[in-house]
Parts: sequence; C-alpha cells; structure tokens
Amino acid sequence: MTITIDELANFCKRKGFIYPSGDIYGGLAGFWDYGPMGVELKNNIKAQWWKHHVHAREDTVGIDGSIITNPKVWEASGHVENFTDIAVVCKKCKNKFKVDESELPTAKCDKCGGEIESKGKFVPMFTTQVGPIEEDSTMAYLRPETAQLIFTNFKLVQDNARLKLPFGIAQIGKAFRNEIAPRNFIFRVRELEQMEIEYFIDPSKKKECPYEIEDIEIKVFSADMQTKNSEPTIMKIKDALKKKIIQLPWHAYWLSSSLNWFKSLGANMENFRIRQHTKDEKSHYSTDTWDLEYNFPFGWKELQGIADRGTYDLSAHQEKSKKSMEIMDEASGKKILPMVVAEPSFGVERAFLVFMNEAYNEKEKDSVVLKLNPKIAPIKTAIFPLVKKDKKLVELAKNIYKNLREEWNVLYDESGSIGRRYARNDEIGTPFCITIDGNSIKSKDATIRFRDNGEQKRIKVENIKDTLRKLISGEIEFSKLK
Ligand code: GAP
Repeated sequence: MTITIDELANFCKRKGFIYPSGDIYGGLAGFWDYGPMGVELKNNIKAQWWKHHVHAREDTVGIDGSIITNPKVWEASGHVENFTDIAVVCKKCKNKFKVDESELPTAKCDKCGGEIESKGKFVPMFTTQVGPIEEDSTMAYLRPETAQLIFTNFKLVQDNARLKLPFGIAQIGKAFRNEIAPRNFIFRVRELEQMEIEYFIDPSKKKECPYEIEDIEIKVFSADMQTKNSEPTIMKIKDALKKKIIQLPWHAYWLSSSLNWFKSLGANMENFRIRQHTKDEKSHYSTDTWDLEYNFPFGWKELQGIADRGTYDLSAHQEKSKKSMEIMDEASGKKILPMVVAEPSFGVERAFLVFMNEAYNEKEKDSVVLKLNPKIAPIKTAIFPLVKKDKKLVELAKNIYKNLREEWNVLYDESGSIGRRYARNDEIGTPFCITIDGNSIKSKDATIRFRDNGEQKRIKVENIKDTLRKLISGEIEFSKLK
C-alpha cells in the first residue's frame, strides 16, 4: 500500500503519534511533538537500537553527552568552518532550499526549475547565550550531531570501560540543525534525535574485520554505477565486498548490521538500498561514505550514513585541546591514535518514518491496520470484557489488565462493539487483543486475536502473560499457538 507523506502526517496526527509543535499557534516549521502513541513507538525504536547495537555487543558502550558544550568543540571539529550550506531562493516561486558551493553556478529551483538567487553561506547551527547576565554570558551552539561528545570524552570512556580496540561508543540524543527548508513531515527537521556509533580501530587493521557479515541481499549503487548512469544491482553485501564494489570489510559489516536491525523489526529489504557517496558529496571529514537509503513515499532518500572518518576528529581535538588522544594498544604494545572506520549514524525520525510506512496497510477506505512489529508497537495488548454490564467479566478483565501493566504498556477498553474495539486497536498497531466472555469465567480461558489476519485462539487465563512474552519477543508465531 502506498501512502503519500501528507496522508501519513494526517494519520499520525489523528491517531496520536505526531503533532506539529505548538499546533494551537500554527506550529513552527521543522519542530514536532510526539503524542501518546508516538512517544511509545519512538522510545521502543530507541530501546531496540540500543539493545542491538550496545547491549548485545561485547565491544560497545554508551554515553549521554550534553546538548550544549564548550564552543571550542565545534571549532575543532570543523563544524564552524565547514558545516556550511548555501541558501538559495527561487526568483519565480520563492521556494527556499540549500545547495553545495559546487552546484551554485548551475542550480535551478528544485520545484519549478526557475532561476535562483543566492542568499549566501550559512552555518546551520543554532546559537544560544550561556549565562543570564549579558556581559558575562558566552555564545554557545546547540549540538548539530551527537558524535563530537563521543570524541571529546573518548579517553575517559576508553579508560573507564577498559575498552580494547576495536571498540564502539554509542549515543542516542537530540541534535539541532537550522535547516533552510524542513520538509517531508519528519524527514528533515530542525530538532532531531540521532542514534550514532563511532567505531574505533587500529588504523593498520583497516582491512581486517573479525566479524561475520550478515547474509543480506540488497540493491547496491556504487559511485561508479552513478557516474555511468547505470541502475543499482541486487547482490549480497558479501559479494559486493568480494567484487571490491565495497572497499572496506568494516563498511560491508556495518551496512549489513544496520540492515539486519531493520529486517529483524519486520522491514522489507526491497525498500532499502546502499549507495556510495560520489567524490563531490563526501563530508569534510570522510574518505569514504556509504548511505543506507530507503524508498520513502517521496523517493529514495538517505536513512543513515556510514562514514569512514579516519583520525580526523581525534586528531583535531588533540591539536586544539593539546591533550593526547592516543591510547595504549595492548595487541601491538604501542600507543596509537585510533581511527573511526565506520560511523553508523542515523536519525530516529527517519527510522520512525520507515516503520510507519512499512506498517501502514489500508484494508478499505478509512480502515487501517498498522502492522508494526510487536517489539516496537506502542501498545502490546488490549484487554476487553465482552459486555461492560457484566461485573464478573469486567472484574476478570481488569485483573488481567493490572497484571499485564506490570510488564508492558497495555490498554483496557470496554466501550463500543467488540468489532469497533478491534478496529481502534488495529489502527494504532496493537498486535494482540484479549477478550473476556461468559465462558472465561467458567473455563478460565480467553480469546486472543492477532491484528495482522484477525485470527483468534483460546488460551488459558493463567498462561496469558507467558504466551504474550513469547509472542512479543518473536519466540513463537501466532499461527503456531496451541
Ligand atoms: N555524525 C555524522 C552526522 O551527523 P549526517 O549525515 O549529517 O552525519 C546523520 O547525519 C543522520 O542523521 C542522517 O543520515 C539522518 O538520518 C539524520 N539527520 C541529519 N539531519 C537531519 C534532519 N535535519 N532531520 C532528520 N534527520 C536528520
């Protein structure tokens, strides 16, 4: 089912996922608030990412850095000087957008093809004053990425967690970019949240990745294919590495690991591709970058960048702070400055859009089933007494509800027909509904219904929690329930 981005935005507002921020005053471009369903989905996405990329790995730890930090961080990182865009406005339709310096002489309006006018270079970092008394206050930036806090804390974290190369440091947190043209709902926003890992290795071991590359087949779009105007080719990531389309085993590994995370949460790999940055588009710090792209309702766009940042950041902070960033490498017995071979970095908002787009299914007009993976679904189960006037049914349903609430976000609903209650929950992605009826009192069992196909089974009341645990974790499929 294809849905336009505006339809998705309307659906998200109607169902309590996302609202324009300050909506009662007309909103503010690039800022969004998350409603009762949205905050749960967003938290679940972040928790699943953390579980997969931090807790499940022996070589990675997390940090939570500050949004505002010493402005020297952004001078050293090159953001003040290089994190710049050129703002342009169309002379005809007044559309505003950004272009690279190299594109400026030939750029035309990306909406109507009209002539454009340059409004000059700008640094898309928000600034603020730290300290309430003007003459004592300092200008500071709201961080435009979480990554730099990983670099500035690098030595402390490595020492505290006794990390040995290769290792990763991960972070999830807010970042701010004063985008000239926030657009496509939450795809490009001004207040975003990033999930980032800086993965450090000994630079002499750039070609040695000890980890297994996931067996994933995907559309591969190399820089060479793009220059020759050829189509992406479907192949296994392992084969792209063997054929030297992907140069570094570490990149193949991280691309496959990120794709595997989406796959494990139910995303369809046909809607993903990996695309290498061409020579002109690489960031100021990167020697090679591969983007994970997704076929959004408005076309193929970046979901995640996997950049090789080399020793760019640690060297820059070492130079500016005059503090050594070298660490003792036990394997070689030498002090070395590690390099970042991959920086799997992506926006929570984009992952949110992917999962919503993948899950959205219209049964018929105005009847939606949101097939979110149970691990990220905002509400795991809804409990209904069949008849609200029957005190015994209500009492049993409420007891079950209370018991399940100890473990998950669950919902109790006694209003409207049972069909209406199922439909309401299908729309917000509740994977399982439990109905207590007359027989439940006698036989101590209940009906459990699966959102994706409406299939229903009877289970014993005493087994509800354990069964749900298995269904939500994916340990058993609904169709295999006895
Ligand atoms: N530390 C590297 C870095 O920040 P980036 O390519 O500028 O690299 C990484 O950003 C990811 O953050 C992007 O792939 C995207 O998922 C997300 N992102 C960046 N700018 C965004 C914006 N304005 N709105 C939503 N997500 C954004």
